[in-house]
Amino acid sequence: MADRGKNLRIDAARLWQSLMEMAQIGATAKGGVNRLALTDLDRKARQLFTRWCEDAGCTVSHDAMGNIFARRPGRDDTLPPVVTGSHLDSQPTGGKYDGAYGVLAGLEVVRALNDADFQTEAPIEIVVWTNEEGSRFAPAMVGSGTFAGVFALADSLAITDADGLTMGQELARIGYDGKGCGGREIGAYFEAHIEQGPILEAAGKPVGVVTGAQGQRWYEINLTGQESHAGPTPMAVRRDALVGAAAIVLAVNRIGHEFQPGACATTGMIVSRPNSRNVIPGAVFLTVDLRHPDDARLAAMDKALRDAAKAAADANGLELAMEQIWSFDATPFDTQCVAAVRGAAQDAGLAHMDIVSGAGHDAIYMAGVAPAAMIFVPCKDGISHNEIESATPEDIAAGGQVLLQAMLERAGGS
Ligand code: GLV
Ligand code: MN
Ligand code: MN
Repeated sequence: MADRGKNLRIDAARLWQSLMEMAQIGATAKGGVNRLALTDLDRKARQLFTRWCEDAGCTVSHDAMGNIFARRPGRDDTLPPVVTGSHLDSQPTGGKYDGAYGVLAGLEVVRALNDADFQTEAPIEIVVWTNEEGSRFAPAMVGSGTFAGVFALADSLAITDADGLTMGQELARIGYDGKGCGGREIGAYFEAHIEQGPILEAAGKPVGVVTGAQGQRWYEINLTGQESHAGPTPMAVRRDALVGAAAIVLAVNRIGHEFQPGACATTGMIVSRPNSRNVIPGAVFLTVDLRHPDDARLAAMDKALRDAAKAAADANGLELAMEQIWSFDATPFDTQCVAAVRGAAQDAGLAHMDIVSGAGHDAIYMAGVAPAAMIFVPCKDGISHNEIESATPEDIAAGGQVLLQAMLERAGGS
């Protein structure tokens, strides 16, 4: 990269201001964001992003998954683009930074390049991936996963929400259905994100050089027993699906503790039917999320979960239907992209450390089709997927500066 590139600086105040403005869309009373994928609020966020990108001179398009690409041409526009971004959808009780930070840090990179009249050799693109969270439509990372060829487009468009609406229908409704998805060369992919855990804050480092991500598996479990009257039905003859589910919830937690170091195990969702106080629950649906940085250990957690679920069903006379609906293995990032992030932090004089991502990110699927890496910044008390999620303007700026320099390392220019 030419020396002039090394001297470029992002505008920290402008990045912060854009983040705060984006956080108004779907703002919650507790200071967070509720902007579920493909809702009217998601559309509003997409439109604001698009307006900002067009004002910054980018050409904006979207594909059949509603993934948005804002492109700043390169001096050699035939080169594969250096891409950055993240997501604008949130959890129902999400924070201001999860996803939006990576998107707006990308926008700030483009704005900073414009301010300096800096022309990159390769084109730069900012991407907004559709439905990263997997909250309204499961699984997570569907937009990037379809772009990367992990999911077939038709399957992704057919995913339904709890009301039976498909992603395809909702994309069309908000005006983000398009043509084609993926199948083009990406020069490199970088994603800035809050850490969503406590490690950087505890270490007092503003920058995490993300070397990879842990593996993850999602399950859906249906237990079927028998609905029956809460009074006349003797304890000995009950087939209480919620009691079986309770045993599974405790087993999931036990497995998480047993497979330390590194394991995470969560039951995030449970639906009991008919959910009436004097009816013995006849059917329960629950979800399990297992994670581990070591694939062999994750496979052992899977076995422990399956054994525990069968034991819980047998002990309570229940039918068990269990499906692993999604998984990905532990994913190392590209060593050169990781080195570009580390070098950028060093050049900017920012304290940094290597870190493995505990969360799922679009960069994981992008790592399958392009050299990829991530930049983490600390968040307060390591809390995320919570309306109180918080990060400092200084750390937000540090990650943005590292993103700019790492992208320039790959895109070149003067
Ligand atoms: C993504 O938000 C995840 O659950 O890791
Ligand atoms: Mn995220
Ligand atoms: Mn998230």
